[in-house]
Amino acid sequence: MTASPGARPRDAIHERFLIASLAFGLLGGFTLAITLPVEVILGRADASWVAHAQVHGHMQVVGFAGLFVVGMAFRLAPRFGGRPAMALPWATTPVFALLVLGLLARSIGQPVAEVPVFAAIAVVGLVAELAGSALFAAMLLTTLWAAIRRLEAHAILLGSASLGLVVQALLGAWWIGGAMLDARMLVATSDDRVLLHLQLFGFLLPAILGVGMRSFPTFFGRKPPGAVAGGAVAATWLAGIALWSGAETSMAVAGGRPWLLAGLGQALTGASILVAIVSFGPWRKASRLAAASKGLAWAIHPAVLWLAATGVVLTGTAVQALLDGTLVAPLTLDAVRHVFVVGVVTLAIIAMAQLILPEFASERLVRHPGGWRGPFFGAAISLAALLRGVLPLAGLGGTERWWAMAIAGSLAWVALIVFATLLWRASRAHRAYLQRIERFRSNELPVR
Ligand code: HEM
Repeated sequence: MTASPGARPRDAIHERFLIASLAFGLLGGFTLAITLPVEVILGRADASWVAHAQVHGHMQVVGFAGLFVVGMAFRLAPRFGGRPAMALPWATTPVFALLVLGLLARSIGQPVAEVPVFAAIAVVGLVAELAGSALFAAMLLTTLWAAIRRLEAHAILLGSASLGLVVQALLGAWWIGGAMLDARMLVATSDDRVLLHLQLFGFLLPAILGVGMRSFPTFFGRKPPGAVAGGAVAATWLAGIALWSGAETSMAVAGGRPWLLAGLGQALTGASILVAIVSFGPWRKASRLAAASKGLAWAIHPAVLWLAATGVVLTGTAVQALLDGTLVAPLTLDAVRHVFVVGVVTLAIIAMAQLILPEFASERLVRHPGGWRGPFFGAAISLAALLRGVLPLAGLGGTERWWAMAIAGSLAWVALIVFATLLWRASRAHRAYLQRIERFRSNELPVR
């Protein structure tokens, strides 16, 4: 049978997640990343600004990064778990619909939650996000189960990431839903801190470490980390995130300042990153990559450098806070979080997508990707991470700090639009390639 024009390949489940991820990033999270600092510069920061900052964070973490991770899991997890496809396939569309609906409803409802109908919309969104996350975790854990039982660290980390997504959605539904039903548009700062730890270091970090431990050695012709190194990464990360979010949750629920447990948890989380980097670096020549992919892989290097920076700064600021007998300051945490989400998460998304996705693989069959891509994305996103994360950490304050953020947001936005254009072009090449194969199979075209 001939594929109808524009038909989607069967293994294209990741596509809709990727398109939604880019839409949330470009139209929501990264646009807010520009408008939020500009509003401060114009002197227009009020309670609604804080609500929009929380919406920006959520759209970026669960929308832009989260939907990408979920979409990629559909491609990678079956290979990790030694199965032909993802388990519980009937749940694929519900997961997508619930996550997208949840994100949209919360983003629309929260900033105007004083109006009861919008509060209700936000609550529906929170419940939908919880249901979508739980279904996804069930699919992923079932798919990875054989590898988890063999105690393979990458499967444990990726599986744990899905549990992190569920726990943050559960606490979010409870805390944010409670605030919305009280006609408040803001989540309490102490609750927000817990949610942010769980989202960034309980969900995104283990997903990146799990995929990195499995994929980076393959890309770079290294032996994968052994059981001891893998176990050390998984155990250090688990101990770190449990202590850190446990301490912060007890602070949110019962008050007090458990600086010792919080500092230890943060230091261990940072240490798990450093152990992971030792286990999959330093790299040798990128020997296993085809010549056409080597330029694309270039951007993985700065992403791992930013990962190392995240590990060093998380550990360093935690040790400093432990020595001072205090909690790490909110502004420091905000800057470290952005070193991670801009330098590591955003750059890894752009680089890994070009190396792993079939769309880009088909494109490489018809044209050699321009050598500018790796250096362009590496430089643009690294500059954004420097302006958004490192300069505030180095003490940049006042209006200059907000200008630096606005420039960082614009750089990241431009890089993402370039990436989206490349993906659109690669998808067209991919469809044309699949249709050609289909026509060869049905003998409509002579085999050359
Ligand atoms: C260069 C691009 C970015 C800029 C300029 C930017 C800017 C901002 C600003 C101005 C805030 C509010 C800070 C405050 O309350 O003082 C914020 C918070 C936040 N951002 Fe970003 N951001 C960027 C990229 C990202 C990315 C890529 C992610 C995640 C993938 C992200 C996640 C967050 C989170 C989780 C928060 C905390 C929200 C909360 O308080 O609940 N940001 N960002």
